[in-house]
Amino acid sequence: ATKKYILAIESSCDDTSAAVLCHTNVLSNVVATQEIHKQYGGVVPELASRAHQQNIVPVVHQALAKANIDKKELSAIAFTRGPGLMGSLLVGTSFAKSLALGLNVPLIEVNHMEAHILAHFIEDENKPQPTFPFLAMTISGGHTQIVKVTDHFTMEVLGETLDDAVGEAFDKSAKLMGLPYPGGPLVDKYAKLGNPNAFDFPKPKVDGLNFSFSGLKTSILYFLQRETQKNPKFVEENINDICASVQHTILDILMEKLQMAVDQTGIKQVAIGGGVAANSGIRARLKEAEETLGWQTFIPKFEYCTDNAAMIGIVGYLKFEKGKFTDQSVAAKARYAI
Ligand code: KG4
Ligand code: ZN
Repeated sequence: ATKKYILAIESSCDDTSAAVLCHTNVLSNVVATQEIHKQYGGVVPELASRAHQQNIVPVVHQALAKANIDKKELSAIAFTRGPGLMGSLLVGTSFAKSLALGLNVPLIEVNHMEAHILAHFIEDENKPQPTFPFLAMTISGGHTQIVKVTDHFTMEVLGETLDDAVGEAFDKSAKLMGLPYPGGPLVDKYAKLGNPNAFDFPKPKVDGLNFSFSGLKTSILYFLQRETQKNPKFVEENINDICASVQHTILDILMEKLQMAVDQTGIKQVAIGGGVAANSGIRARLKEAEETLGWQTFIPKFEYCTDNAAMIGIVGYLKFEKGKFTDQSVAAKARYAI
């Protein structure tokens, strides 16, 4: 059989990305991260759409060049239809539709949240893959979900955040401490040097497997205001302990819900993804759960955890194999449930 090459495009938030896959192998995965948002302390949708518009053609060219593939060899074009920022999604969607039309190859729409999960099936000889059924927890600046995955295309959301995503909880806490955006990696860094039990923050009471992080942000705000009034240098002098305590609280919340999901379903394979999967604390907690609770845990390579087109490409390939194509009337969807 001839080899199938899929070009994939991701533009749901602030990263413009294109990848070329040959079946489940990633030949290239180019990501243009938009630096412009840093100075605003968060993603500005209007600026994101414009940057996608500028980046998309060069990024696709680079992905093809790195894969050493001519566009005429492509078997299909996969793209992120949603969920995400509408203006951002429109750029990738329109580009993918036009290219598929021009090359006369099938078009394949991909749900971004499913892609974060199916990223676990990207070929990586160093990594074992989960087997069905498994639990997937997607944790990033935009998402917080626990999903039961029965097969590639049968997924059920068991719980999700009712307000902020977990990455936002990290970033907003960091901002309150005066750290630059995105603060998550810095909280992780300082937390390693601090005492996780130095300060107590209340955990939210949320039923079932849903999450809430907005209350935590508020309690950190009041805590810091109170302490800084007594000692203006409080944050500076205690940054390690504050970060360790905040991170500890966030990880407790995540691990408690994961434990509940495992108990409810009896499934002990736990796969995580999203930018927050880079956190050293969550990695340590999962390792611990392997030893004490007999879980099997899975974390993809970091470049497949954060937003990237390779994960869109793996879904593209799996859908291609099943003949799950999309017609040219498809439109982007800002809200798009799994
Ligand atoms: O997946 P991602 O790159 O983009 C989306 O939000 O979709 O995730 C970025 C998020 C940010 O909130 C960032 O602060 C967080 O992941 N993050 C971390 C770490 N590395 C990235 N949070 C905690 N610890 C880390 N080491
Ligand atoms: Zn994402």
